[in-house]
Amino acid sequence: MDGQAVSRAPGSTTNRAFDVRRIRADFPILSETVRGKPFTFLDSGASAQKPRQVIGAMVRMMETAYANVHRGAYRMSEQATEAYEAARGAVARFLNAADEREIVFTKSSTEAINLVAHSYGRGVLKPGQAVVISEMEHHANLVPWQMLRDAHGIELRVARVTDAGELDMDDLAAKLADGKVGLVAVTQMSNVLGTVTPAERIARMAHEAGAKVLFDGSQAAVHRRVDVQAIDADFYCFTGHKLYGPTGIGVLYAKADLLNAMPPFLGGGDMISEVSLERSVWAPIPAKFEAGTPPIVEAIGLHAAIDYVTAIGWEAVEAHERALVDRAMAKLPHIEGLTLLGRAQDRGGVFAFALDTAHAHDIATLLDRAGIAVRSGRHCAEPLHARFGVESTCRASFGLYTTPEEVDLLADALTQAREFFR
Ligand code: ALA
Repeated sequence: MDGQAVSRAPGSTTNRAFDVRRIRADFPILSETVRGKPFTFLDSGASAQKPRQVIGAMVRMMETAYANVHRGAYRMSEQATEAYEAARGAVARFLNAADEREIVFTKSSTEAINLVAHSYGRGVLKPGQAVVISEMEHHANLVPWQMLRDAHGIELRVARVTDAGELDMDDLAAKLADGKVGLVAVTQMSNVLGTVTPAERIARMAHEAGAKVLFDGSQAAVHRRVDVQAIDADFYCFTGHKLYGPTGIGVLYAKADLLNAMPPFLGGGDMISEVSLERSVWAPIPAKFEAGTPPIVEAIGLHAAIDYVTAIGWEAVEAHERALVDRAMAKLPHIEGLTLLGRAQDRGGVFAFALDTAHAHDIATLLDRAGIAVRSGRHCAEPLHARFGVESTCRASFGLYTTPEEVDLLADALTQAREFFR
């Protein structure tokens, strides 16, 4: 198996009609039952299920083409290296990056943001400069900046979220006004509110204020076509496991000039071009940021996941999700006693809600009895829950394989749950 054979036609799209039944047939786990009931999986925001195409690509790689990469002179290692680098090429096309060298593999979005906070934050930003985040960030895009603030004298500013769950653009402008901001780091889609933020406008505002911009695309990259050049992102990150790919792999996109200017994050093998006992010379990008044996099989799985989604086609993916969102909005807000967090105009298929008669964990437990899987708690976004004055919520999040009937099932089960706990 060579690099190209690992996955078919990277980046290609087709116009096949979207058929959710056919999609579901690709995901073996969806035919499982839970307590004798069909498995209704509404937790894709936490981690998506995997199609056979991804599972198969990873198994094939391990069975027929596995070896370490960038290290062996033998054919199997060369083939593994080709496959690993072909995955990088697929990611570059997926994000419309100008250059494959702008793609760094990490183990997660969290690691990608930590890489930027550590390397760009300490190596390029100066004490006294500020980083702006928003109130709707996942902890992964909050805690690393608090750590940077404490270690490096960076001021951390937080742009407000409106009652509707939108990013408050006036507040963002105010936070940028004094010209001290070095970086704006915000989500492109909230993992709690479903809000899609206006990325192009945010990037423009950041750039006009002399700041760079990072988007946490962990949720957005699953639901929308991403074009890092069109939005003019300086940094963009996403993770494999939410995109129907494996765990253990994430992506950092960064403009080449930034990566070139940044010091390494982790040191070790493969990120150097020369080492003596006294000093080391860093390898060129992206290797400079990929110390140690990388997630090889996971990269092959991510490549297959990207091919899977792009072969369905973004138009179809987005239309399916819009229909699910419309259905959920027609039902959930009308359930008595249900409080939905956020009503953003532009939103994806993520709905966090509280019921007046029961705690979120109790609701989730009751839903589980009906075979319905949702997340309950604060979804790694405690400050956002505090902002909306709720202790915790249940969250339903949709994927390619979610059906309108599953949305109806959720709404009916919630109505029953409210009655049950009365
Ligand atoms: N970040 C994942 C979520 O929002 C785990 O559930």
